[in-house]
Amino acid sequence: MTNGGRAGAVWQNGRVFTEQRVVVSAAEESLPLAIRELELELGPEAAVEPIGPETVVVTAPGLTAQEVADRCEEAPLVFPRHLTVESALLAPDADLDRIADAALEAVREAGVESDIAVQSWVSGRSGYDFGPAQAFAAVADRLRGAGYEVARSGRFHTLSCCLTDRGVLLGVNETRDSLSDWPGGGVRLSKSRDQISRAEFKLEEAIGEFGLELPEGGRAVDFGAAPGGWTRILRLHGLRVWAVDPGDLDERLDGDDGIRHLALTAGRFLRSNRTVFDVAVNDMRMDPDLSCDLMVRAAETLAPGALAVVTLKTGSREVLETVDAGLRRLGEAYEILHARQLRHNRHEITVIARKRSGAPS
Ligand SMILES: C[S@@+](CC[C@H](N)C(=O)[O-])C[C@H]1O[C@@H](n2cnc3c(N)ncnc32)[C@H](O)[C@@H]1O
Repeated sequence: MTNGGRAGAVWQNGRVFTEQRVVVSAAEESLPLAIRELELELGPEAAVEPIGPETVVVTAPGLTAQEVADRCEEAPLVFPRHLTVESALLAPDADLDRIADAALEAVREAGVESDIAVQSWVSGRSGYDFGPAQAFAAVADRLRGAGYEVARSGRFHTLSCCLTDRGVLLGVNETRDSLSDWPGGGVRLSKSRDQISRAEFKLEEAIGEFGLELPEGGRAVDFGAAPGGWTRILRLHGLRVWAVDPGDLDERLDGDDGIRHLALTAGRFLRSNRTVFDVAVNDMRMDPDLSCDLMVRAAETLAPGALAVVTLKTGSREVLETVDAGLRRLGEAYEILHARQLRHNRHEITVIARKRSGAPS
C-alpha cells in the first residue's frame, strides 16, 4: 500500500507541497513529552498517533515535514529528534524484495533524480526475519540497480525505512527537514581509546548534529569539567581550556599546558575571573534554574558573539515547564540557536546559544 502522504496541494514559501503524514521520532522515555510539545505547538487540528515506542505520525490540514521541522527549530520543540514522512506503509509480512520494490517506487514518485541517502532502523520490538542492515542492503541494491547513487547520509534527499510493529514504513524527504541525518536520529559514535568520560559523546554529538564551528586557538571555559571529557574534546578542536570543577581531572590531561584546572565551584570562579572567553560549556550536575542563572552571569565574561553549549538537567517532573523557564532565563543574555534532547542525553537536554550583542561584557 502506498499513499504518498497525499491529501491536497499546499503552498509554502513559494513552493508547492502535498499534505504529508509526518513521522516524528523521540527517545522512548520522552515520547509523551514530544507528543505534548507537538499538540501544544500544532493546535487541536493536529492528530498525533503513536506507531511505535519512540515514533508518532502527525497529521493536520496542510501540514508538511518542512513546517514541522521549522517549528521544531523555531519554537523550539526539544523532544522531537528526527522527522520523515510516510510515503508508503507495507504490511508486516512484507519481504525484502517487496520493500526494495516499494522503496524504488517511493523514490521515483518523490522525483529524486540521481542520488539519495538510505537509512533504516527498528522502532519497537522487531518481529521481522531480517534487521535494518539487511533492509538497507536490499533497498540500496535495488536503487543502485536503477541507476541511483546511494549513501548512508549527507545527501539532499533521504529514504527512511523504519521497521515498526505495524509494518514497514518508507519515507522520502529532503534531509534538511529531518532534524538529524542519522537513522531515526540514532547517532552512533565510536568510543576512542583516549575517551575520558561517556559525557564526551554529548558534546561530540552536539558539535556534529548542529555543525558547530569552534574558534580554533580561542579560549573556552568548561563549567563542571571533571573528569575532563568535554575539556579533552575542546582541546581536540584547538581551544585553550579553563576547566572549572572542584573535582579532579583525569591524569591523562596532566602536562597539557593548554588546560588550566580551577578547583573551584563555578560561582566562586566567576567572582574572581578576569579572562574573556570565546566559548562557554556547562555540563554541571545542577538544578536547571541555578545552572541558567550561572550562565547569565557567565555571559559577562564572554566575548561578543561567544558560543555556549549547556546541558540542562530537566529531571522527570514538570519537564516542559522546566525547559521553558530555562530557555527564557538563558534568553536574557543569549540567542538560543538550538535546544534538543540528543541521543546521548538522559533526563536532560542540550542547548546551543550565542551571546547576544546587547548583553554586557
Ligand atoms: C556530568 S559531570 C561532568 C562531566 C564532564 N563534562 C566530562 O565530560 O567529563 C558533572 C560535574 O559537575 C560538577 N559540578 C557540580 N556543581 C558544580 C559547581 N557548582 N561548580 C563547578 N562544577 C560543579 C561536578 O563536580 C561534576 O564533576
